[in-house]
Amino acid sequence: MTRILAGLFLALIISACGKETIAQPDTPMADAEQPDWRIVIHGGAGVILRENLSDEQEAAYRAALEVALDAGAEVLKQGGTSVDAVQAAVLTMENNELFNAGKGAVLTAAHEHELDASIMDGRDRDAGSVAGVKHVKNPILAARAVMDQSEHVMFSGAGADAFAESVGLETVDNSYFTTERREKALERVLDTRERTDADRHGTVGAVAIDRDGNLAAATTTGGMTAKATGRVGDSPLIGAATYAQNGVCAVSATGHGEYFIRVGVAKTICARVELAGDSIDAAAENALGQVADLGGDGGVIVMGGEGQYAYVFNSKGMYRGMMDSTGAIETAIFEAKE
Ligand code: GLY
Repeated sequence: MTRILAGLFLALIISACGKETIAQPDTPMADAEQPDWRIVIHGGAGVILRENLSDEQEAAYRAALEVALDAGAEVLKQGGTSVDAVQAAVLTMENNELFNAGKGAVLTAAHEHELDASIMDGRDRDAGSVAGVKHVKNPILAARAVMDQSEHVMFSGAGADAFAESVGLETVDNSYFTTERREKALERVLDTRERTDADRHGTVGAVAIDRDGNLAAATTTGGMTAKATGRVGDSPLIGAATYAQNGVCAVSATGHGEYFIRVGVAKTICARVELAGDSIDAAAENALGQVADLGGDGGVIVMGGEGQYAYVFNSKGMYRGMMDSTGAIETAIFEAKE
């Protein structure tokens, strides 16, 4: 059984073309006991300032992060696989309208929801994804079905919804995903053409390592408010937002998708770990530095081959959390150490 090495504790702030890239696993792991399994999640990155979040909102986000961590941890505790764990964790966030994924997803300029999701199993680098689905209730389940029940890696649009329905997944009217908050956000963006980070960076994701040392990653999103019909971001793209390779690393990303696609963020991070011998923090900072160079922002959660982990982002905050078999649990939102 793989024993997981202690995580990295140092908060590093480096300059990347005028933008800060922040790596901050912000609660030390227990030294005495090394965990057998671990899960790390994110619920989106952006300008998330303490003064803009009421105590009630902060408590709601932290509670939702804990629900997601608990769901993934339950799988791992029972000896389940990391791929089942990341799926279970993000499923709770797809069903929670606080996040831009599943119920509560943002609206396109045509007042619809087009949802993207992907999942990857580090054991054999099997992967599945869907882009632009409008009816499958939980896009992450559709991505998993593509991986497990088809010979393909990616389905898009109506074909993806039809595939999901054909394997028995629940489908809903597109309006199921709509909330008042996202209606208002769409109105504001269409009126002013101004996007706030909250409109852009609500993607959710998870990475995990199980008792057998297997890595997995999952990412799911509604994309960006007022996006054009048919626009696809990074979230369903293996190598951009999602990657997992046993013994190397697992990554889930959130941010301005166009930049993450152009850098190939998730694969870049894993390749730097594997080929350049970078630490997971250094690899993530390099990839996000490239994103910043191109003008983009966002963040990643990364888990190394031994279960070490990092949250790295060049935005003002990222909803995030970690739980492991020692009983350690942390949630964090803002950029400063909490
Ligand atoms: N990262 C989500 C998107 O750009 O669609």
